[in-house]
Amino acid sequence: MEKRRVLTGITTTGTPHLGNYVGAIRPAIEASRDPNNESFYFLADLHALIKCHDPKRVQESRREIAATWLALGLDTDNSVFYRQSDISEITELTWLLTCVCAKGLMNRAHAYKAAVQDNESEGAGADPDKGITMGLFSYPVLMAADILMFNATDVPVGRDQIQHIEMARDIALRFNHIYKSQFFKLPEARIEESVAVLSGLDGRKMSKSYNNTIPLFVPEKKLLKLIRKIKTNSLEPGEPKDTEGCTLFQIWSAFADASQIADMRQQYENGIGWGDMKNSLFELVNDHLKEPRSKYEELMGDMGYVEGVMQKGAEKAREEASQRIKLLRESVGFGSFV
Ligand code: TRP
Repeated sequence: MEKRRVLTGITTTGTPHLGNYVGAIRPAIEASRDPNNESFYFLADLHALIKCHDPKRVQESRREIAATWLALGLDTDNSVFYRQSDISEITELTWLLTCVCAKGLMNRAHAYKAAVQDNESEGAGADPDKGITMGLFSYPVLMAADILMFNATDVPVGRDQIQHIEMARDIALRFNHIYKSQFFKLPEARIEESVAVLSGLDGRKMSKSYNNTIPLFVPEKKLLKLIRKIKTNSLEPGEPKDTEGCTLFQIWSAFADASQIADMRQQYENGIGWGDMKNSLFELVNDHLKEPRSKYEELMGDMGYVEGVMQKGAEKAREEASQRIKLLRESVGFGSFV
């Protein structure tokens, strides 16, 4: 059986939080252990520049995300783990794809359209392109290059990214057609239905843009403090409580096994107090994170080691990328003169 090639990128603008862990990091590390998969995971630092022009933040986030994945046990012998910006072939491919990509396709991208709409909502005379860089506009082409560079078959992403995978398919087809080749396989988005989308401190989806996250590796005390801040209703201890729509119970379920979930459900019926629930939740989450947290702290203090791992990853990725780009260069007319 041919192996599935699973590829995904993590934009390096923030600090990983519990929602990232449950929704993306944990399933990706699990998938990388499946012998039927080849896994390509990368720090999408070129993408980070679209949203963030603060070099310190970009660098800090690259370090944190790399250390997080390694601390959580990503096996870099059985996966390819790299920084996008280390693979200059990706940037080169981006241009080849840009030159076959219809502008109209990009006009339809949700993220770009939302930015334009936002500008237009400011009323008559507003500049629809205010604050919109070419980076934001052509972002889906870069993403297509990420995916097509390695001929990924499966791309695990959130729902908001489905359109980008469809665009990658469109661009791949167009390139194959124009250059009468079968260079690119058509990738498919993989949306894990079973994976939880965690709610944050205020009950909305946990997201950096809502400022309601629980960072994955905060010190124990801070973790407890944040868990205590999670919004609940005002039911008193002793009153039966609903698990449905309860942020605490949802986070509990993302970390607990089946019997712990059943047990907690019972405690809700019995009217567990919110304070007690929060203490139990802290114990559970903290037990899970204790070991990787200390590994993470160790790695954050040993960037020489992490740098070495990333360079090895880049070497592995480039072995393949450099061969493919050579063929692609020839296909567009950039072969040797002799
Ligand atoms: N754009 C993705 C996001 O914001 C990150 C990303 C960049 C990505 N390149 C990718 C995901 C390639 C999958 C494949 O989540």
